[in-house]
Amino acid sequence: MGRLDDKVAIVTGAARGIGAATAEMFASEGARVILADKRDDLGAQVAARINSGTPGSACYVSLDVTSEENWSDAVAQAHSAFGGIDILVNNAGIIRVKPLVDCDGETFRKVLDTNLVGPYLGIRAVVGAMELRGGGSIINFSSAQGFEGRFGMPAYTASKFGIRGLTKTAAIELGPKGIRVNTVAPGPTVTEMTQRPGWSQEDYNAAYSLYPLGRMAGAEEIAAMCLFLASAESSFVTGADFVADGGVTAGKPRDT
Ligand SMILES: NC(=O)c1ccc[n+]([C@@H]2O[C@H](COP(=O)([O-])OP(=O)(O)OC[C@H]3O[C@@H](n4cnc5c(N)ncnc54)[C@H](O)[C@@H]3O)[C@@H](O)[C@H]2O)c1
Repeated sequence: MGRLDDKVAIVTGAARGIGAATAEMFASEGARVILADKRDDLGAQVAARINSGTPGSACYVSLDVTSEENWSDAVAQAHSAFGGIDILVNNAGIIRVKPLVDCDGETFRKVLDTNLVGPYLGIRAVVGAMELRGGGSIINFSSAQGFEGRFGMPAYTASKFGIRGLTKTAAIELGPKGIRVNTVAPGPTVTEMTQRPGWSQEDYNAAYSLYPLGRMAGAEEIAAMCLFLASAESSFVTGADFVADGGVTAGKPRDT
């Protein structure tokens, strides 16, 4: 018995990083998964890898989360491939590091469009399908930067604080339909998003050595949080933030 047997999930940003790890973990727990991303070659490869382990459990769709039309197509694909939707993981996201005075309107809007408007469109796209199944679980990606500001990240922090507000309102409105809505807020996690040229795993861990757990997360540690929120184990949980940040937002790190 898997923890997601008979469930169908859409995972955005599933071509790599946390999204790919989440799609793989969901499939290994019995779910059928629509992997959605803009990186088509990479996304199709991840879906093929999942299908080689658990045949027929994954399907890739090309999706730009900022496009309402793309969302309609992805929902239609979920219906035709797997018969409905129970879980949506709004994981796709981008970061642009530019101090406020250098962050032009176009950059700011692009980050907000991807990290906040995208999940909003996704929630609206799947509500009808989830109602047909009697409920569902929606997981929105915030960040440690959804709890504290950070130099050079005005757009990213705005988007990650914003998604927490959207989540709480969505939980209030959709709870009566049996749809739970929560956020996952990762701290520093080893993915392409955080890659720095020439850095080894030791370099990454050293950068966080003063924080409580003293290292970065692996993508599968964040996927495990998504699995909990997608599964029946979290059946009374909605409108909540689930921080998995190794203690980064607990307070100031030790003095050196
Ligand atoms: N890695 C970290 O340290 C960290 C920390 C906190 C929060 N997060 C959040 O976790 C989520 C996943 O991050 P990651 O580290 O795996 O990033 P990543 O860059 O490795 O992967 C993100 C994926 O999203 C896809 N994507 C970007 N824009 C898209 C769009 N418009 N439509 C569809 N797909 C799109 C990319 O193609 C990519 O496959 C993001 O929301 C990110 O903000 C990451």
